[in-house]
Amino acid sequence: MVTPFFVIIVSIQIKIMNHPNPTLDQDQLASWMKQVKVTAAEAADFIRTELYKVKQEQIITKELNSLVSYVDKTAEEMIVKRLSEVLPAAGFITEEDTEDQTDSELIWIIDPLDGTSNFLHKIPHFAVSIALRYQGEMILGVVYDVMRSECFSAIKGQGAYMNGTKIKVSAVPELSEAMMATGFPYASSYDFKPLVDTLQYWFQHARGLRRFGAAALDLCFVAAGRIDAYYESKLHIWDIAAGVLIVEEAGGVVSDYFGGDTHKGGTQIVATNANLHDKVVAVLSQNFTQDTV
Ligand code: IPD
Ligand code: CA
Ligand code: CA
Repeated sequence: MVTPFFVIIVSIQIKIMNHPNPTLDQDQLASWMKQVKVTAAEAADFIRTELYKVKQEQIITKELNSLVSYVDKTAEEMIVKRLSEVLPAAGFITEEDTEDQTDSELIWIIDPLDGTSNFLHKIPHFAVSIALRYQGEMILGVVYDVMRSECFSAIKGQGAYMNGTKIKVSAVPELSEAMMATGFPYASSYDFKPLVDTLQYWFQHARGLRRFGAAALDLCFVAAGRIDAYYESKLHIWDIAAGVLIVEEAGGVVSDYFGGDTHKGGTQIVATNANLHDKVVAVLSQNFTQDTV
């Protein structure tokens, strides 16, 4: 007969073995996740109500084709305020620089509105992205699709979810059956030849190609099996921090254009359903060099 003492020992061991980092408590992570979801949904509510209100004179051009308005800034302030209460010890990396405190083991990485160009053109495809990094590793990510109210989330080691339902990447085995997605850099000085050659390759060898305009959602669409592979360069850490964890937890693979791990810095990324990863990396490596990514 199993004694109650034995049962207790076994359950503690399983808890530690399943844990990505034994120093972080599962209940604590679950509680943070709950609060991050509420925070993202609140910011999304605000963004949604402003969709038809932004006036032309309220739009600022940060750099070529990179736009911002009070909506991005206010959403970020709302998120930062909430998360500072959730976890006072944590620092922040945020796109709109309303808070910049990176001297902590725990860092929130926030894009308050990913897909600003879509938002300002009233194209209903944009999201709130929030990730939590602990000692350099992403441990929690939430991407909230503002207009569809789809909340994608993942805690390291616990799978990926959309509105509470587990999601996983597609099983598509060949490029000929693959729906691809990408994004285009804004820089006017960029050498577009490798990019155009790569597009031509997909036109001839893949099933289709989409440019949705919100990197965080591109990654979640890979995680949910809606698209099979996504790649883009000239990104920032806040575009992909949450989405990368969600893809990995959904069984996908993420790397830079050459199969390495420089994507962790946030500038170039390939995310696939795993089956296609080597094939996509082979095409990108053939067309791009480190200097032309
Ligand atoms: C942009 C979007 C877009 C990508 C750009 C990003 P923003 O983020 O994710 O899809 O192509 O590179 O900068 O500026 O809308 O937060
Ligand atoms: Ca972004
Ligand atoms: Ca943004």
